[in-house]
Amino acid sequence: MSLTGKHILIGISGGIAAYKIPELIRSLVKSGAEVRVATTRNALEFVTELTLQTVSGHAVYSDVFAAINAHATEHISLPEWCDAMIVAPATANILAKMSAGIADDALTTTICSCVARKPVIIAPAMNDKMWENPAIQQAVRTIRGWQNVSVLDPDEGVLACGTSGKGRMPEVEVLQEAIEYALAPQTLAGQRILITAGGTQEKIDPVRFISNYSTGKMGVALAHACARRGAEVTMVCGSMSAPLLNPYGRIRRIDALSAQEMYNACMEAWPQMSSAILCAAVADFRATEISTEKIKKRAGQESMTLSLSLNPDIAHSLGENKKPGQRLIGFALETEAEKTNALSKLERKNLDAIVLNSLREEGAGFGVDTNRVSLLSADGNSKELPLLSKSEVAESIIDTFLR
Ligand code: PMT
Repeated sequence: MSLTGKHILIGISGGIAAYKIPELIRSLVKSGAEVRVATTRNALEFVTELTLQTVSGHAVYSDVFAAINAHATEHISLPEWCDAMIVAPATANILAKMSAGIADDALTTTICSCVARKPVIIAPAMNDKMWENPAIQQAVRTIRGWQNVSVLDPDEGVLACGTSGKGRMPEVEVLQEAIEYALAPQTLAGQRILITAGGTQEKIDPVRFISNYSTGKMGVALAHACARRGAEVTMVCGSMSAPLLNPYGRIRRIDALSAQEMYNACMEAWPQMSSAILCAAVADFRATEISTEKIKKRAGQESMTLSLSLNPDIAHSLGENKKPGQRLIGFALETEAEKTNALSKLERKNLDAIVLNSLREEGAGFGVDTNRVSLLSADGNSKELPLLSKSEVAESIIDTFLR
């Protein structure tokens, strides 16, 4: 999602995970945002003021009484300036202070004046024993009850002290995704959307399968965009390498490697859905028989024939079982007679719209981060989009078909 023109305020407290924040700032700036930073004094033991100032391009607010402050009320003006604030890492100390409304330094006074007015995301990070402390858990429950504030769950894994447990700050990409959730218009709130993504794998024997080049990037971009806009997403995933970010658990992932497994998962989910976007590259055929042993080549064998049987067509079956009000959007990946083929699929499968991408277009289709698509609706309307990131294509599909 583009963050052009957005103002993001980052609050940093004194935990080891503070060393990751310059990376977050760089990523936000790359997405077009302007970033300002407020910290506790202790945070500057873990990441230097000079680093934060250099990557954000602005002075860091860390001392309420410093002479360099532009004026004496940064803790009021920064929350007024920002569109969203993230506190990362949020230590046990900061969570306890926040929940009690304590405001005794640059960061806590800033948080105190921000929470009632702007979206605030909290990313706790601490030792697992501290996270389990009943006072800290109580503080998190209190803060989660506030209207503008969302608290991310810490990740499980190796902690700074060398042990393993729940307490790691989520990765930078997840923090950015959480910020984007806070800024996205909630146009899909209350909707349930089914998305298929990735390529199917059709087994031949225990070591081989038939598949295609889909990485899941387009499907993941759609799932992220729908979840950000407030939808509950059910994502049926074939084989895919694209990472799925799910900061608030709005995306339910079902792994279904073969076309038949994907068909079963989609047919079960469809009656509860408001819409479906079918982006997966599904194999039309599967091996008629799956050998239980590895198929060996015999001495002198020059060729082999594999018998294939037709797979169920998921889009077609969802189209047959579509209830009034449900919207069904397909994709068409073509190499020739693109528009004619896409329109024929739209009609045959009873789709409301189809997204056409052609392998003849540079930067479109499998594996790349961009796509060039035409949006074709059953009512005859069509729109050709320029080469865009897959994330921008996803936003456009939502704006055009899911309003
Ligand atoms: O994953 P990426 O690397 O980012 O690549 C994205 C993509 C190229 C896979 C994606 O943009 C795309 O075009 N997906 C659909 C590919 C495809 O299989 O198109 P198709 O023309 O063969 O199928 C038409 C529609 O019917 C699709 O919505 C497909 O999901 C669906 N279908 C097809 C066969 C089948 N048995 N069941 C289906 O539901």
